[in-house]
Parts: sequence; structure tokens; C-alpha cells
Amino acid sequence: MSLLEGSVGVGDMVLLEPLNEESLLKNLDKRFQQKEIYTYIGNVVISVNPYEQLPIFGPEFIDKYKEYNFYELKPHIYALANEAYQSLKDHDRDQCIIITGESGSGKTEASKLVMSYVAAVCEKGKEVNSVKEQLLQSNPVLEAFGNAKTTRNNNSSRFGKYMDIEFDFKGSPLGGVITNYLLEKSRVVKHIKGERNFHIFYQLLAGADNQLLKALRLERDGSHYSYLNYEASRVDGMDDAANFRMVQNAMGITGFSTEEIQQILEVIAMVLKLGNVELGDEFQANGVAGSSIRDEKVVKEISDLMGLQPEVLERALCSRTMETNKEKVVTTLTKIQACYARDALAKNIYSRLFNWIVNRINENIKVSDSAKKKVMGVLDIYGFEILEDNSFEQFVINYCNEKLQQVFIGMTLREEQEEYMKEGIPWDKIEYFDNSIICNLIEHNQQGILAMLDEECLRPGMVSDSTFLAKLNQIFSKHNYYESRVTQNAQHQHDPNLGLSCFRIQHYAGKVTYNVNGFLDKNNDLLFRDLSQALWSSRHPLLQIMFPEGDPKQVSLKRPPTAGTQFKNSIATLMKNLYSKNPNYIRCIKPNEHQRKGLFSSELVGTQARYLGLLENIRVRRAGYAYRQVYSAFLNRYRMLSRSTWPQWRGQAREGVEKLLEELSLDSGEVAFGRTKIFIRSPKTLFYLEEKRRLRIYELVTLVQKMYRGWRCRTNYQLMRKSQILISAWFRGNMQKKRYGKIKASTLLIQAFVRGWKIRKEYRRYFRSGAALYLSNFIYRRMVQKFLLGLRNNLPSKITDHSWLPPPYKVFTRANQELKKIFHHCRVSKLLEGVKGGEGLFPSNLFCIQVSPPLLFPTPHPLSKHIWSLVLTLSISTLGSFFLSVQCKKYLDQLSPEKKEILKEKLCASELFKDKKASYPQSVPVPFRGDYVMFHEKHILQKLQHEADEPMLMAETVNKVNRANGKMAPRILLLTKGHVILADSKGSKVKTVIGLEHVSEVSVSSLQNGLFALHLNEISSVGSKGDFLLVSEHAIELLTKLYQATLDKVKRQLPITVTEEFTVKFKEGNMTVKVIQSPKKAGNKITCKKKGSNHLEVSAQ
Ligand SMILES: Nc1ncnc2c1ncn2[C@@H]1O[C@H](COP(=O)(O)OP(=O)(O)O)[C@@H](O)[C@H]1O
Ligand SMILES: [Mg+2]
Repeated sequence: MSLLEGSVGVGDMVLLEPLNEESLLKNLDKRFQQKEIYTYIGNVVISVNPYEQLPIFGPEFIDKYKEYNFYELKPHIYALANEAYQSLKDHDRDQCIIITGESGSGKTEASKLVMSYVAAVCEKGKEVNSVKEQLLQSNPVLEAFGNAKTTRNNNSSRFGKYMDIEFDFKGSPLGGVITNYLLEKSRVVKHIKGERNFHIFYQLLAGADNQLLKALRLERDGSHYSYLNYEASRVDGMDDAANFRMVQNAMGITGFSTEEIQQILEVIAMVLKLGNVELGDEFQANGVAGSSIRDEKVVKEISDLMGLQPEVLERALCSRTMETNKEKVVTTLTKIQACYARDALAKNIYSRLFNWIVNRINENIKVSDSAKKKVMGVLDIYGFEILEDNSFEQFVINYCNEKLQQVFIGMTLREEQEEYMKEGIPWDKIEYFDNSIICNLIEHNQQGILAMLDEECLRPGMVSDSTFLAKLNQIFSKHNYYESRVTQNAQHQHDPNLGLSCFRIQHYAGKVTYNVNGFLDKNNDLLFRDLSQALWSSRHPLLQIMFPEGDPKQVSLKRPPTAGTQFKNSIATLMKNLYSKNPNYIRCIKPNEHQRKGLFSSELVGTQARYLGLLENIRVRRAGYAYRQVYSAFLNRYRMLSRSTWPQWRGQAREGVEKLLEELSLDSGEVAFGRTKIFIRSPKTLFYLEEKRRLRIYELVTLVQKMYRGWRCRTNYQLMRKSQILISAWFRGNMQKKRYGKIKASTLLIQAFVRGWKIRKEYRRYFRSGAALYLSNFIYRRMVQKFLLGLRNNLPSKITDHSWLPPPYKVFTRANQELKKIFHHCRVSKLLEGVKGGEGLFPSNLFCIQVSPPLLFPTPHPLSKHIWSLVLTLSISTLGSFFLSVQCKKYLDQLSPEKKEILKEKLCASELFKDKKASYPQSVPVPFRGDYVMFHEKHILQKLQHEADEPMLMAETVNKVNRANGKMAPRILLLTKGHVILADSKGSKVKTVIGLEHVSEVSVSSLQNGLFALHLNEISSVGSKGDFLLVSEHAIELLTKLYQATLDKVKRQLPITVTEEFTVKFKEGNMTVKVIQSPKKAGNKITCKKKGSNHLEVSAQ
């Protein structure tokens, strides 16, 4: 979500309207209550400590902020970290992230968020990951040694930390450098009630196993150690034992060896035990007060840990060697001095250990390669502190914050100015509070408080904290930001809260009263030389390194720089460092003093807002233009407000913005066009734009919704329609298929039935008639079979036996008699043996023809043929073949030659015409007579015979068909053994004599009629005239005889073709004769009609 969109209160307080402290606090409060802990002032992030875990951190938020620009999402530290990292990567600008705020306001947490963000977004790789891990893991180590529970913060950093993270050109971290500032070492020996010493002491006692504790000569119970305040040894929500293991692990990751870790813990144990070294008064022989160790055991244990002789340590703790150029004087220390020396030793050991740890981490994470690097510095320094009793530590801390404020003001203004100049917008000077006067008060080289302090420390003679205060009062008596009892008195003011030993400075963040007690000591930070020498001479490797000044060879009488000077110098270096980088600010605010969530104390926040100069900050930001944005982003956000820029602007972004604002007709003074950014003077204008945008978006969203809904319904409808069509198509298809299947099956069934029915109907008659025939046939067969089998089985056995079985049916009476006769003839015949093998002489069919009709069927019967063949078969089988042969032979023998000849002719006729010509069956029972004209009686006809002079075979009157008109003329036809003679009807005149050798072929009608054609050879003289078309009433006989005569005479089988259509050759040409069946009522009459010149149609029965 964007900064401006749906934000609680105002996300960027530059846009706050009206601008005053009340509205600012209200805005922060409102946002804080809605858990919006981050708010912008331009590019500065204000962070209010929520004192609860909010679900706005972690990888998915990092991923989100990675994708967007600073103002595009809700205010967040991630947005600032992203901005800094991208600027570092893309614009090659070193960055620093300055995190300021009171103790407990969330600075350290913020710095961790920045680091985890950078670690998450920068490139991944094995090496990079290990560097990132080392950088991240340096935190818990430093926190264990440098953080402690205070009344304000359970995990308060008691040192300042600046960490430079170095990146290569790709933005991958290479390593880093950590700089630490002024550890609050006084905490080692003393802390107020309700607070704790540094975490590591408690962690060690809680987390170390017994073996380790034994080796360190420690006891688990913290109450044994006077440096640890057992009352507050436990901190809610903090597991010291678990943290100890975590710290050990982190130390391993950051490069500490196991031995080093062990040595560090030994040093911690020494410090703890030093607190238990009890000192007592001892008076020397000369009566001078001295001191001595009460409990030798503790000192022995410490010495063992240090690798020192206990006496050496004892001596170092209780005496002091004064060294001049000439001599060494050893003086014993009073108990107070000895206690001071002991505590000084403990503080020094601890603070030097802390420095060593930081250096050791730096050694590990330092970048060896000298290639060009980009740097991102993260400054997490102690915040402005106003305690009840403020001492030297608060003084330097607040000085540091004063310097940071100076940087902030300077840089913000500078940046603002730079931006205006870069964008080509005129810059008006802005009035603001410059705190350099306070900085000068503290740090001025000659006239600064720190310089006075140093001077007082170095000055010979009686010096004390009060002389120091007197000096300050004298020098700063007229200073506006300094006051004390003395200066107040001079101005006749009286403030009971201001103690005699106190001075007050009016910091930019408020007035702070400092108590000068201990200032000199703390600034001197002296450790007696005897102690450093003793520690240097110890066998403990860390102590040797930590106390190099103890080396007698390096004796230098030059004083080391004072703590104040050291701090001032390191702050100066830091400032230089910060000025060289692009600053990014996180200003942390503490909402309440009770570390409670949801509680917003306006008073407390008001104070912080004041000293953080938030209002000033906003004013500076708003001095020119309250809001600025790059053209493309601005256009992108507001393009929907103009028709020309919506939905797409094709030209330059700046032109688009100009067009857009022109259409909105804003006040010309309200906007300024920079080179890359648009500047909007007052927040009102921006809100006006926002409101318009909101309304327009509402319209657009409605439009989009409408379109989308329409589209969705349409597509849904189309889809449903398509589906419905498909389903109905399939359904219909399926239905039709089923219906078709049914219809087809029914049709087939009906067809089958109908066809069957039709066929049955058609065949019924055949079936019936056939059945009748079959049945009658069967019955006849059975009858015949029964009859013949009966005969066979009852044949008389003796020749004299004349008995004979009567026929079972009357119909066989004659046949029975005949068979009886045959049987008896046979039996009596003496030729029985002689006839064997003679059967071949009698063809069976001849026998049939001869015997059957008269015998079995007196009248012609269609079945006679079959019955007879059956009878014959049965007869033959029952009576024996020879019996028949005998019968036949006997029958034949009794025939006259003429009769035989007649039968032969009959046989020939059968072969020629049987089943071919319709008149044949009638001709069978009629014997061939040959003469039908009473030839022998008519003399005139006999004359004709002389023409041939051959025996006459047949004489008959035939009709000759006239080829010209189809009319018929009677003719006498004589067939002799060699010729066919045709004469006129009276027989008086021979018309034609045809030699049989000239008859080439005969065509005869198949019907009842006697029409036939004699086809003659062309070579014959007669043949030249053409063929003869004749009609005979005895055609069968005539043609049979003609056939036989031709066979006898010419030894040639005369071809006789039975046909309805044949061609006749005449002199004039060929004529086709077609015989058609005349209706029955026309009788036997033959009519010939010429159809054209060469067609003759013969109508006959
Ligand atoms: N962003 C945050 N979310 C949740 N708790 C926080 C956050 N910032 C700070 N805190 C709480 O406030 C306490 C103090 O924060 P810290 O960063 O140590 O303050 P500082 O370093 O300014 O003294 C932390 O221990 C933590 O409990
Ligand atoms: Mg801190």
C-alpha cells in the first residue's frame, strides 16, 4: 500500500496540516495505536518503539520492500534500508544509517533490522553467506559483553557502535569494520539498584557446565560475587543460560578459537573474583596507614587464573611504586586507595577485554583486498541521557548526541539545498537552530569544557573536581547555555535543583545537570603502573596483550590521552566519516518509561520530539515544497485524473505531468517543475490530488468491476451455451442413434417378415403342388415297392406251381398279370442259360418305352416316366437283370423286321425331339405310317417315285410357304431313300427333287406346329433357288425319317435344330423366320405374315 493510500493519520509528516507539536504528537499517537510504528519526515524514518513483536518483519516483507521505491509502500525501516542499499549499489554512493534516540527507544533493534535487510537482499553465495553470517553474529557477541539491563532497557547497549559494512561493486558484502565508543566500564564495579552488570557475567554463571565453572574457579550462585547485584540477576524474558550457548556459538562463527573463548571466560572470571578481594586496614611499623588482603584464597585463585604469583598481585593491589628519573619509591596504599586500585583494575581489564574482542572480530571480518569498495555505515550509539545523577559518562554521551544533531541539521539542510539546486528550483534560506554553540561549549580546543577538564587533570598542585567546576564557572559565566549555582547567583537566580557540585548545560534536547564528582578521575582513567606491570608479567596470553604498557622496556613517562580527549577525537573521526557519506536517518522514540506496549505518553514523546527537532526537521523539509516526486512516479499515480494521460501517456513523463496539472488548473505557485521531479508546495494541494484520485479510482474500479463482471458472465454464458449445445448434440445424437437402431432392427424384422411372408406366399403354391407331387410320388413308390417286394417274397418255388400273389392295388392288376406271364415264360424257357450276357442287346429305355405305358399306365401320366424307371429299377433289383433280358430278348425275337424298324424310328424320333418339340409326346403312341396319301393306290403318285427310282419312305401332303407373300400352297412330298421329291398337290407334276446329300440342315419350330425349313447346300442346283419352308402334319415322323435316310445314304447326321427363329436362304436373299405362339382359339392354323422384305412372322400353335 502506498504511503498516501489508506494511511492512518499522515504517513509522511511533511504533509501534516496544521503543523504544530500537538498535531505531530496526535499523528504519532494515532499511528502508534494502530500499530503503525513508522512515520516519515521526508526520507527520515521516525520509529516508535512498540514493545511488542509486530507482524511486519521477516522475509516476505523484505521481498516486498525490495520491489518498491521509498514512498510506494507504508513507512518502514526496510524502505529506508532498501533506499540506502540501492543508492549504494546503483549510484555508487557510500551510505550511513544514523540511528539516534533515547536509551530504550529501539536503536539497536533498528540497526539489526537494517542489517538483516541488507543481508537478505544482497547477493547470495557460499562466501557471501559466510561474511553475512559473521557480520550478523558479531551482534550477539558484542551485546553479551557490552549490553546490560538498565532501568530503562533490559538490553541497553552500554557502548556506542559504528559498523561499516563493505560491499564489492555487485553489492555483495565483503566484510566490515566495527568501531566501538566508550564502554560504560563503571558498570563493572557498580550499578544502581534494579540494574545489572554486563550480561556476560550472568550468562557465564547460568550457562557454563560444572566442569567449566570449576576450571574458572567460579560458583554458580551469583550472590557470591559482590560485583553482581543478585536482586536483579534475572531479567524477564531473558534466558541467560541459553544466551550463553548462543554467544559461544556466535563467537565460534565470528572466528574465535576454542582457546580464545576459554581465555576470554578466564578474564571474565578474574574480573568477577576481583570484586571479592576484600581489603583491610593495616598500619605499618612507621604508623603509616596501609592496606592488606583479607582473604588470601581469592587472590590465590585470581593469581592462578592469571598465571601470576599471588604475592605479586597482592603487592600490586596494596602498594604503589613512584618512579622518578633517579629513584623508585614504594608506598603502601590505604584501604580506600587499594579498593580504588582493585576496582580500577577490574574496570580496565573488562574494558580492554571488550576492545580486544571488537578488534578480534574486526580482524576476522576485515576486508583484505584493497580494491575499491562501497561502504554502508550503521551507527547505533547511545542516546541522549538525562538521569537523576548525571556524571562524566552522561556528559560525553550527550556531547556525542549533540554532535550527531549537528550532523543531522547540517546534512538535512545541505541535502535539501542540493536537491533544489539539482532540480533547478530557487532556494530560499531557512532559519533553524544551530547547536554548534553547544558543541563549541564542550569541545572547543582551548575554551571547551573537555579542554578545561584535561587542563585540570594535568595541572600540578591541588586539583579536584571542585577546582574544575570553579574554573568552568569562571570561564562560562556569561555563556547562554551554561549555568551553575555560581552563575545563577550572579544573575540573582535561584534553583534548588541545581546542586553546589553541579553545572547545567542546555543541550538542544533539554537541560542536563551534571555532577562534577568523579569527572577528573574518570577523565584520567588511571591504572597504577604496578598493576599493569603485574598483569603484563602474567602468563595469561590475553592479559599480556591487553596491558602492553606494563612492559618495563616500553616505559614512557608520557601520559596517555585522557578519556575525554580520546572520546572527542573518536567523535571527530566519526563525524568526518559520516559527512563523507550519504546519510539516512532513523530517529527512535520511546513511547513510555515502562517498556509497555500500547502506552503512548505524549509528554515523554513530546520531549523527545522536541530534542530530536522533529518539527524543525519538518519545517526544513517544507520550507520550499512539501512534496516532491519523480515525474514518472507522479504521473503513474495521478494519470487517471486526465483524459490525455489515461490510460497511457506515450510521451515524456514531464510533459505528461505538465498536461495533467494544466488540466487540473492548479494554482501556478503551488507547483514547480524540477529537472527530474515535480515539487508541490503545500500539503493541501497534494491532498486535493489524492482526493480526486480516490474518487476517480472509485469510478475506475466500478468500471473495471462492471467490465469484469460482464466479461465473466459472458464467458460463463458462452461456456455454458457451448456445453449445453455439446451436451444436447450428444444427447440428440445418442437418442437418434438409439432410435435409428430400434427402427433399423424393427425394419429388418418387418422386412424379414414381409419378405418371408411374400416368399412363403409365392412359394406356397409351389410348395403345395410340389408336395402333392412329392407325396403322390412317394405313395406310388411305396405302393410299387410294396407290390414288387410282395411279389419277390412270394414267388412260386416250383415250376409247376402256378399260384401268384394278387396285386395289393387294383391299378397293378395288368402289370401283375404281365409280370406273372414274364415270370412263367422265363421259368419254362430252355434258353435260361443261353441268354446270359444278352442283356446288352436291349437298351433299357427301349424296353421302357416299349413296356411301360401300356403296362403300368394305360393313360399317359406325367409320373409314368419316373414310376416306370422306379419299377424298372425295382424290377431289375428284385427279379434280376437276366430275367428282364430274357423277357426283352424274347419280346424282340417275336417282333417282325418291319416292327423293329418302326421301333427304331421311334427311338430315333425320341432322341431328336424328346423334350425339345411340343408335338413330340403326342407322336409317341402313334405308330409311324409312312404313307398318308394312299400312295400305293394312286398311280399318279407312283410315277413320281420313278423320278428317284428308290423305295419310298414317306408320302404326305405338306404346305409350302411362299417366300414372297407367306401364303401356303399344298404339295405332295415324297421321301425316298435318296431324295425328297415335291410335286403339286395332285401329284401330277414334280416340282422339285432334292438329293439328300444337298440337305444341309433342318430347322424346325419347337411348338406344336409342323413348320420346318430345309436348308440346302448352295452348290446344288436346287439349292441355288433357296431353302424350303414347309408345314407338315407329321413333322416328327417326316424329319425322323429324313434324318435316318440321310444317315443311311450319305452317312451323315443331319443337323436338326429345334428353334423359334431361324434364317432361310432364298434366291432373293435371306429371310428371318420367327415363330410366335398364336392364341389357342386360332386352332391349328398357321398364318405367315411378311414383315418387311426379309422378315417372316409365323403365328402358330
Ligand atoms: N521494532 C521493535 N519491535 C519490538 N520490540 C522492540 C522494537 N524495537 C525495540 N523493541 C524493544 O525495546 C527494547 C529496547 O530496544 P533497544 O533497541 O535495545 O533500545 P536502544 O538500543 O535504543 O537502547 C528491546 O529490547 C525490545 O524489547
Ligand atoms: Mg542499544
